[in-house]
Amino acid sequence: MTTAPNPALDPAIIRARTAEDVQVGNQIVRHRLGTRLMHWSAALSFAVALLTGLPIWTPIFGWLAGLFGGLSVCRWLHPWSGTIFFFAMVVMFAWWLEDMALEPGERDWFGKKLFTYMMHETIDDWMIGKYNGGQKIFFFAVCLGALGLMLSGLLLWFPESLPPAWRGLGIVVHEITFILFAVAIVFHVYLGTGAEPGTFRSMTRGTVPLSWARLHHPRWYREITGDDRPRT
Ligand code: HEM
Repeated sequence: MTTAPNPALDPAIIRARTAEDVQVGNQIVRHRLGTRLMHWSAALSFAVALLTGLPIWTPIFGWLAGLFGGLSVCRWLHPWSGTIFFFAMVVMFAWWLEDMALEPGERDWFGKKLFTYMMHETIDDWMIGKYNGGQKIFFFAVCLGALGLMLSGLLLWFPESLPPAWRGLGIVVHEITFILFAVAIVFHVYLGTGAEPGTFRSMTRGTVPLSWARLHHPRWYREITGDDRPRT
């Protein structure tokens, strides 16, 4: 009987605790531990804010309140988890801003290319670096969305200190932003899990196989490995 290798002893996973963008054997460290903690803090606080916000929004999702001990708990937990999410996104913005800077050649991602990526057809572009144009657009969209949710949420949190029209504006902006946000996250989760085998483990173990990097992020692969042989 053969036993699966113990991931805790994998040198690439050990290296991924502190380093990133390095090759270890036939793997590359894509997200070091700090990056993964930052990402999952945002994802977890987003999930709590979403699941506590939905039963406040409409009775259709009233059953979700039971997960948290009732609607009154959701009413205080929602703004606080939303605030934690916002600060997690502030950290994410600062953390990834440099990596996510759009390059001149990536402008064509605003259009058909973004749609193709969302439909998960592999984009054959020799110049794709650590993040592709679609990931960068997603990053800026969620950062902007988090700001919109926080500002509009504040209008709803302290309605008595503001004119009624402000509350109306808060409701419209909060609802539109969260619906767009939720749709974007559905695509993001799909692309980060089932659609691209090997991607999810970059946010759990921190590492990706060389073949994954070469297929999806060829320029990043070349920069890390120095292997610039053309793909066959
Ligand atoms: C269960 C939920 C989630 C899963 C499974 C997931 C998965 C992933 C994975 C695997 C990556 C790495 C992609 C790569 O290295 O190429 C990633 C990156 C990222 N995630 Fe998430 N994520 C989730 C929720 C969220 C949430 C709630 C946010 C923020 C609102 C978020 C924002 C990002 C951003 C900005 C990136 C970098 C850009 C990108 O790769 O698209 N994620 N996520």
